[in-house]
Amino acid sequence: MDKEIASELKAWIQFFRDMGIEDFYSRGAATEPAVENASPDAKTESPPAGPGVAHSPAAAPEPAREFRAVNTPAPISLSRPAQTLGLFESAPSEPQHKLETLDDVRKDLGDCHRCKLWSGRKHIVFGQGNPHAELVLVGEGPGADEDEQGLPFVGRAGQLLNRVLQLVEIKREEVYICNVVKCRPPGNRVPEADEVAACSPFLFRQFEAIKPKLICCMGAPAARTVLGVKEGITKIHGQVFDYSGTKAIVTVHPAYVLRNPREEKILRGDFEKIKEFIAR
Ligand code: URA
Repeated sequence: MDKEIASELKAWIQFFRDMGIEDFYSRGAATEPAVENASPDAKTESPPAGPGVAHSPAAAPEPAREFRAVNTPAPISLSRPAQTLGLFESAPSEPQHKLETLDDVRKDLGDCHRCKLWSGRKHIVFGQGNPHAELVLVGEGPGADEDEQGLPFVGRAGQLLNRVLQLVEIKREEVYICNVVKCRPPGNRVPEADEVAACSPFLFRQFEAIKPKLICCMGAPAARTVLGVKEGITKIHGQVFDYSGTKAIVTVHPAYVLRNPREEKILRGDFEKIKEFIAR
């Protein structure tokens, strides 16, 4: 196998591992490697940041729904002997995939060095709140206060978020709050495509562990990462989208409202909708 293909395969396998997919097998030399089926592009492009992720460094990753499409059924093992059952025997149950908890996801994230953001962080900001929340709020990435405390939305944007939650009578401790990237981008810049690609599998696994009724994407990076939407947030805010069997709504980021105080009505209006949706 030539070096380039080998390193491409390595990148894919690491991506699948980060997505929590561990079952790999080889079909032998005569057939295509199994992982190459995951994306028609994989063979011809440079090593991917993840399936469905455009390969240009500036491009944004495709949404989670695309990622899920590669979660194909586990391969059938040919080594298991054929079984015949007696009349009163029941078939042994197939081993079930154990559902991951948030703790499992956090453990797997570990002392993450998967992208360059690790070098400037004080703390990984994994997320905070009810592990069985009906509502998950997703921001962009930790700021200075969040990096300092290891908790999401504890700075000025967090205080505004708290106020809006209070206005619509949603208790902060009842929801789960996290970000697209778990380490602070330098100078609070927007997370770059490779950083989002490295970190977003953990966000999607957080969704899987929590199984919320509604995901709220606050700001463009969250909306783009989760839903793949590219339209301006002020155009599509308040709309409910399908996200892989659950629902997701988009709203403006509280930091945007801090810079544009007159837009607070958008955030409040969307959170009123969220409250209504959750109460249904
Ligand atoms: N902005 C974010 O996007 N996330 C935080 O946790 C804080 C500010």
